[in-house]
Amino acid sequence: MSNSTPNTALVTGATDGLGKATAERLANKGWRVLLHGRDAAKGEAVTESLRRSSGNQQLHYFNADLGSLAQTRALAEALRAAEPRLDVLVNNAGIGPRAPGAARQLSADGHELFFAVNYLSGYLLTHELLPLLQSSQAARIINVASIGQQALDFDDLMLNQDYDDMRAYRQSKLAQILFTFDLAGQLQGSGVTVNALHPATLMNTAMVLNSRYFPGPMAALEQGVDALEHLLSAPELAKVSGMYYDGMRPERANEQAYDPEARLRLRQASAVLTRAQ
Ligand SMILES: NC(=O)c1ccc[n+]([C@@H]2O[C@H](COP(=O)([O-])OP(=O)(O)OC[C@H]3O[C@@H](n4cnc5c(N)ncnc54)[C@H](OP(=O)(O)O)[C@@H]3O)[C@@H](O)[C@H]2O)c1
Repeated sequence: MSNSTPNTALVTGATDGLGKATAERLANKGWRVLLHGRDAAKGEAVTESLRRSSGNQQLHYFNADLGSLAQTRALAEALRAAEPRLDVLVNNAGIGPRAPGAARQLSADGHELFFAVNYLSGYLLTHELLPLLQSSQAARIINVASIGQQALDFDDLMLNQDYDDMRAYRQSKLAQILFTFDLAGQLQGSGVTVNALHPATLMNTAMVLNSRYFPGPMAALEQGVDALEHLLSAPELAKVSGMYYDGMRPERANEQAYDPEARLRLRQASAVLTRAQ
C-alpha cells in the first residue's frame, strides 16, 4: 500500500451494523472509503453523515442489491470505472436467520436467498474486482463469515429439502470460508491476500436484534470493528492469507473447509451459477 495517497477500502453492507461502524472507523483514520448498500436514500444519508462527522470528503456511495447477480456485476463495473485502485475489499453485507419456520426465499436469479446474498454475490464481486485489487501494491480481501457454520450438501445447495433459515445462514457462512481458502491458493504470489473472519458473537446489530433465535446482543459492535480493522490493516498480517480468524485469533473452521474436493465442487458450482467463467 502506498503512503502518499490514502488507502481505498470498499465495505459492502456499510449502511448498518458492522459495515457502517467499520466505514466510520476507516473514515476517521483518513481512508478513502467506498460504502456499499442496497437502499440508495439510506446509503447517501449514511455517507453524508460520515463526511460531516469525520471531515473526510473521500467517502463515496455505491448502490446494489446483492440478491441480484446483474446488480452485483453492475456494481463491479461502476467501481472499475470510478476507481483506479482498490486496497481492501470487505465482503460484509449479509442477511441473518430470522425465526424457526421462516419460509425459504429466492434471489432475483432464483437462487436460495442466503446462499445468494451472503456468499454468491461476494464470490462474483470479488472475481469482478480482482484486476482492480491486483493493481494495488498489496491488497487484502476480507470475507466476513461467522462461527455459525454447517456443511454444504452439494446435492442440494439450494436447500430444496429440509429448509430452515438457520441452516441456510450457516451453509452460506461456511461457503464463504471454503471460497476464502480456495481463492487464497489461486492468489498465491499475486500480492492479494484473502482471509475470513468471525467478527464477534452476537453484536448489537439489526441482524441480532431482529432475530428470534438469539437471546439478544452479547458483544459490543466495537469488538467486531477491532477484529475487522486488525485483519484489514495490521502490518504483521500483510502476507497472511487463507486463514479463518475468530476475532483477533486464527481459528479452525468447520472440517469441510479443509477438504480440497469440497472447495473444488463449490468453485465449479459457483462458476456455473454466476456464469462468470
Ligand atoms: N451481528 C453479529 O453478531 C454477527 C456475528 C457473526 C457474523 N456476522 C456477520 O457480519 C456481517 C454484518 O452483519 P451485521 O450484524 O452488521 O448485520 P446488519 O446490521 O443487519 O447489516 C447488514 C448490512 O448488509 C446489508 N444488506 C443486507 N441484505 C443486502 C442485500 N440484498 N444487498 C445489499 N446489501 C444488503 C444491509 O443493508 P440495509 O442497511 O439496507 O439493511 C446492511 O448494510 C454479516 O455478514 C453477518 O453474517 C455478524
